[in-house]
Amino acid sequence: MLVKRVVVLVAVGMGLVAIAGLIAGASDNRVRWREWIVFDKAVGKLDEISWIDLFRMLGPASDTHLQRAYNGNPFEVITSPRGSKDDIEAGERLYREHCISCHGDQGRGGLGGPSFYNRTFRQGRSDLALYRTIKSGIPGTPMVDRGLSRDDVWKLVSYLDGIIVAADRGVSTLVTVPLEPVTAADLRDADNRPAEWLMYAGAYGGHRHSRLDQINRGNVGQLRNEWVRQLPTNAERVETSPIIRGSMMFVTEPPNRVYALNAASGQVIWSYTRNLPARLAVCCGPHNRGVALLGDRIFVGTLDAHLIALDANTGSVVWDVAVAEPSNGYAITGAPLAVDGMVITGVAGADYGARGFVDAYDSVTGKRRWRFYTVPAAGEPGSETWGGHAGAGGSTWVTGSFDPELRLIYWGVGNPSPSFYGEGRPGDNLNTASVIALEADTGKLRWRFQFTPHDLHDWDSVQTPVLVDAVVGNVKRKLLAWANRNAFYYLLDRATGEFLLGTPFVRQTWADGIDASGRPRVRPQSLPTREGALVYPGVDGGTNWWPPTYDSDLDLIYVPTLDHGGIFFASPDHPVEVGGETLAGWDIANNDEDMIVAVKALEVATGRVRWQYVRPPRKAHTPGGLMSTAGRLVFGGDNETLFALDAETGKELWHFEAGGWVSAAPVTYALGGRQYVAVAVGRTIMAFALPPLQNTADTDVQARHP
Ligand code: HEC
Repeated sequence: MLVKRVVVLVAVGMGLVAIAGLIAGASDNRVRWREWIVFDKAVGKLDEISWIDLFRMLGPASDTHLQRAYNGNPFEVITSPRGSKDDIEAGERLYREHCISCHGDQGRGGLGGPSFYNRTFRQGRSDLALYRTIKSGIPGTPMVDRGLSRDDVWKLVSYLDGIIVAADRGVSTLVTVPLEPVTAADLRDADNRPAEWLMYAGAYGGHRHSRLDQINRGNVGQLRNEWVRQLPTNAERVETSPIIRGSMMFVTEPPNRVYALNAASGQVIWSYTRNLPARLAVCCGPHNRGVALLGDRIFVGTLDAHLIALDANTGSVVWDVAVAEPSNGYAITGAPLAVDGMVITGVAGADYGARGFVDAYDSVTGKRRWRFYTVPAAGEPGSETWGGHAGAGGSTWVTGSFDPELRLIYWGVGNPSPSFYGEGRPGDNLNTASVIALEADTGKLRWRFQFTPHDLHDWDSVQTPVLVDAVVGNVKRKLLAWANRNAFYYLLDRATGEFLLGTPFVRQTWADGIDASGRPRVRPQSLPTREGALVYPGVDGGTNWWPPTYDSDLDLIYVPTLDHGGIFFASPDHPVEVGGETLAGWDIANNDEDMIVAVKALEVATGRVRWQYVRPPRKAHTPGGLMSTAGRLVFGGDNETLFALDAETGKELWHFEAGGWVSAAPVTYALGGRQYVAVAVGRTIMAFALPPLQNTADTDVQARHP
C-alpha cells in the first residue's frame, strides 16, 4: 500500500514539476531548485522528509525557505516551519506531556534521557535532524516514535531550539519554572543528589562533600569564573552558604536580605528584605550563613531573632515567628536545619548573657514543636554546675547535623557567659562548650559531651558536627568527629556520646592531655589573669565555625586551622568596655608574626595529620571553610584567595585571586551538564566552571548521578 502511494506521489510530483517547468521555462531558478529536490527525493536521498511534507515545503506559501541555496543537503536548509510564539508555547506543553519524564525539566536530563545542554547531538543538531529523531525515534533505545503529528514535532523542534541555544549560553530560559517541592526524603537522600545542594552542609552528615567529579585533579587548573552576583550590602563579610534546588540558588546577604538567583547565570529571580529594628545587639558582626529548604519554602533566621518562611518561588512571607526577644541579646546568624516537617534553629547571644537554646518549628504552620535550653534555669538540674545559679550563655549559632537512623540531632553549644571571668559561675557550666544529642521528635537530651568544662577562653563548640561511620579498634562504629575550637580533635560514639579519642591538631598550651573520660587536664597557668596569660590557641581557637569537610572514600577530615596564641585577661575589680560589651575579662591577639594558617587533613580514626597546606599569614585572617568532591579535590579560601587542593596530598592545583575577603565555605552543583563551584567572596557570590569546550559530548553529570 505504502509503496504504491509513494510511487503515485512521485509520479504526481514529477508531473507537477514538469508542468511548472513548461509554464515558467526550464531555466527559471524558482523551478530549478524544486526540480532538484523532487529528483533527490525520488532517488532516495531525502528519506527524512515525507512526500506530503515535501509538497508543503515546495508550495509558494511555504515558510521552510527550502529554496535558500538548496545544495543537495536538506539538513542545511530546512528549518522548523512552526516557530511562532504560540507554536513554541505549544511545543513546551508537548514537551511536558511527552518528553519531560526522561529528558527532565527544560532538557536538563537526569531521568533516563540525556541532557540537551552542551551536547554533541549524535543524531544531528539541525532542525531537520531533530525532527527526524523525534518523529521516528532512535531504534534500539528508549527514544521511540511517539506517534506525534508532523506539526507537533515541528513545534517541539522549535521549543528545543530555544532551550538548546539558551543552555549553550548558560542561561536558563524559564526562570519562572516553579521549584519542585523538596521532600523530607529528598533531604535524607541529599548525598545521592549531587546536582543540588539542599542544605547548609550539603547533607545531614555534615560532610560538605559532593559526588560530582566533572571538575577533577586533571582539569581543575582550567576552572574559570562563570558569573558574579554583586550584593549591595555594606557588611564586611558575606558568610552565606548557597542552597541549590533545580536551577534556583538561595543566598543571604547581611544584614537582612535573601535572594533567589538563577544558578546558571546569577540573575536575580526575587529578593526579600527584612525590616530590622534600628538598634540590635550583634556581638560579632551582622552575619547570616544561609537558609534551609523544605517543601516549596525557604526558611531564614534574622538578626532580630525571628524565623521566617518564604515562598521559594516568589519570596513572599508565608509565616514569621519571634524566636526570642532581641533586646535580651538574642540574634540568629546560622542557617536553620530542616528535618522532616520541622525547621530547627539555634540562637546567638552568649556575649550578652543570653540563655542559649535549640528550637524546632512546624514547617507548615510555624508553630513551635519543642525547645531545648542548653543551660539550666536557677534550681533546675544542672544548676549545681553553675554554683547553684542559673546558667548564662551556651548559644547555638552554627547549624547542627542529623542522623535519620538514630533520629538524633547533634548541635554544638557555645561558651558560658561572662566569657573570660568565671568567679560567678563555679563548676563545669553544663552544657556550654559541648555537643548535645537531642531526640529529633521531642527535643529531649539523649546525651552530651563537654569538650571544655568551665571554659574561660571563649572556645565555643560551634563547629559542624561531622557524622562518620568508620572502623575503630576493629569495630565499625557510628561516630562523631569533631575538630574543636579548643585545639583538640575528638572522636565520640554518636549513639551514646562515649569518648573515644582526643588529640591536638594545632599547638595548644592549656591542657596536659585528656583523660580516659574525655576531660582535659587543665594547666593552671592557662587561666586568664589580671596580668595576662599567653595561651595557645588564642580566642579564635584552633578552628572555629569554619566548616570542615569529610571524604569517606579517603577517610580524611579536612579542617581549616589556625595556629595562634592569645593573651587572656581577667579583672574582677575593673570591668572594661570592649566593643560595646561590659566584660570582666578580655583577650588580645598575640603577635601575628607567628600565626600559621593551614588546611589540615586528619585521619579520622587517629586524628593524625596526613598533610597540611600552609598559607602565608596575614594580619586579618578570615578563613572561610572547605568543601571536598569526588574529583579528589578540596576547595577553600582565606584572605582574598580561593584554592583547590589535591585531596590526597594537599598540593595546590588551582587558585584564584578573588579580590575580596573569603569568609564562607564553597558549595558545588550541576546544571545543564556542567559542574559549578559557588562561594561568597567579598560582597559577591561567584560561580566557577570549566570552559564549555571541556565537556565532551557524553559528559552528563546528572545522568550519571540520578
Ligand atoms: C522513555 C524515555 C524517553 C522519552 C519519553 C523521550 N526520550 Fe528522547 N531520548 C531518550 C534516550 C535514552 C535517548 C538517547 C538514545 C541514544 O542515543 O542512546 C534520547 C535521545 C533523544 C534525542 C537525540 C539526542 C542526540 O544525541 O542526538 C532527542 C533530540 C530527543 N531524545 C528528544 C526527545 C523529545 C523531543 C521527546 C518527547 C517527544 C523525547 N525525546 C522523549 C529517552 C527518551
